Amino acid sequence: MNAVLQPRLDFRPMRLEDVDAIMAVEKTIYPFPWTAGNFIDSLTSGYSAWICREDGLMVGYAVMMLVLDEAHLLNIGIVAERQRAGLGGTLLDYLFQVARAAGARRMLLEVRPSNVSGCALYRHCGFVEIGRRRGYYPGHRSREDAIVMEREL
Ligand SMILES: CC(C)(COP(=O)(O)OP(=O)(O)OC[C@H]1O[C@@H](n2cnc3c(N)ncnc32)[C@H](O)[C@@H]1OP(=O)(O)O)[C@@H](O)C(=O)NCCC(=O)NCCS
Repeated sequence: MNAVLQPRLDFRPMRLEDVDAIMAVEKTIYPFPWTAGNFIDSLTSGYSAWICREDGLMVGYAVMMLVLDEAHLLNIGIVAERQRAGLGGTLLDYLFQVARAAGARRMLLEVRPSNVSGCALYRHCGFVEIGRRRGYYPGHRSREDAIVMEREL
C-alpha cells in the first residue's frame, strides 16, 4: 500500500522580519493591498497577527485586533497558488480559537462587496451581514461600500 503524505500545517506569530515576504504576497492577491507600514503598525500595536505555514512555507497570514469581548479581523490572505484548498477556512478556525481563548465572544470584519472570495469565505465560515458602511474603501473610480459581518464565537 502507498503511504499518502499529508501536508503539515502550523501557525506561528507574525514577526517584523516576515513583512517583506508578506508584502510580496499581499501585492499579488489584493487590488488595494495594505502597505508594509500597515503590517508594521499592527505588529508594534500588539495586534494578534499570524503566519500559516504548510510544510514550513508561508501560505497565509492574518491580522486581528482583540478588544474586550470583540475580535476584529483586519486582514487575511492565502497565497494565490494555494487558494480554494481549505486553507483560508482553516486559518479562520485558528483565529476563532485564539480569539475565544482571549475572551472574545464575537468576531467582526469589513469586506468589499466586490470581493467574491472574501464574501464567500466568510459566509461559508458562519459570518452574517449586520450592516454597511457607505464609501468606506477607496476604489478605482469612486469609493466602495463595506459590508460589515459578524460571527458569534
Ligand atoms: C479570501 C481568501 C482568504 C480565501 O482563502 P481560501 O484558502 O481560498 O479559502 P478556502 O479554500 O478555505 O474556502 C472555503 C470556502 O469559502 C468559499 N470560497 C472561497 N473562495 C471562493 C471563491 N473564489 N469563489 C467562491 N467561493 C469561495 C467556498 O465555499 C469554499 O469552500 P469550497 O472550496 O469547499 O467550495 C483568499 O481567496 C484570499 O487570500 N483572497 C485575497 C485576499 C482577500 O480578499 N482576503 C479577504 C479580505 S476581506
